[in-house]
Amino acid sequence: MDGVFAGFDNGGLLITFLVVYGISGGLWYLWLQGHIALDQAVFPENTPGFVLDAFARSFLWKIGLDYRHGTGHGVGAALNVHEGPQSISFRFGNMTPLQKGMVVSNEPGYYEDHAFGIRIENLLYVEEADTPNRFGGIGYLGFEKLTFVPIQAKLVALSLLSVAEVEWLDNYHSQVWEKVSPLLDGSARQWLWNNTRPFVKP
Ligand SMILES: *[C@@H]1O[C@H](CO)[C@@H](O)[C@H](O)[C@H]1NC(C)=O
Repeated sequence: MDGVFAGFDNGGLLITFLVVYGISGGLWYLWLQGHIALDQAVFPENTPGFVLDAFARSFLWKIGLDYRHGTGHGVGAALNVHEGPQSISFRFGNMTPLQKGMVVSNEPGYYEDHAFGIRIENLLYVEEADTPNRFGGIGYLGFEKLTFVPIQAKLVALSLLSVAEVEWLDNYHSQVWEKVSPLLDGSARQWLWNNTRPFVKP
């Protein structure tokens, strides 16, 4: 696993991507399913982040696996890469509600002692969700992606993902291509093209 830290005058962020160091691709889809489930979460306003933590973790829990860190943290501007008060974590004491305009990371992972570690991390922006109802007269919230790095989905056993999950991947990769390709040329652009092609679900 590798990470890229991007520092700017007014802030910094960390994107984690996967480089294969001899892991078995077999379980990789479980992290990806958790990442996709959290990315697509829709929830009532005033929901504390910990409520969403299980959206990402549940796929691992089903087979008795887990990870020892929170699923998401806030992001500071010109301060810290990890910055509260909001988080998406199993630490149920943090009751800070997620609010429109907040930024959180989406980074389920798994680390096997002395073997390998694996994680995907994107940053999400909390925005209003366009729900057909507003039960209780309150607003509903969801996420918009802020970071666009291809996911090495060639590791994924596509047959184990649902049709909707493969659609999510294809849609994400088409956005990565649209947003990032105008900034690249030569072999970097070719690499991005190669790594953002749609998948065909077997
Ligand atoms: C892109 O894919 C083609 C076809 O598989 C391959 O020949 C080429 O080397 C790849 N280019 C890069 C930069 O990854």
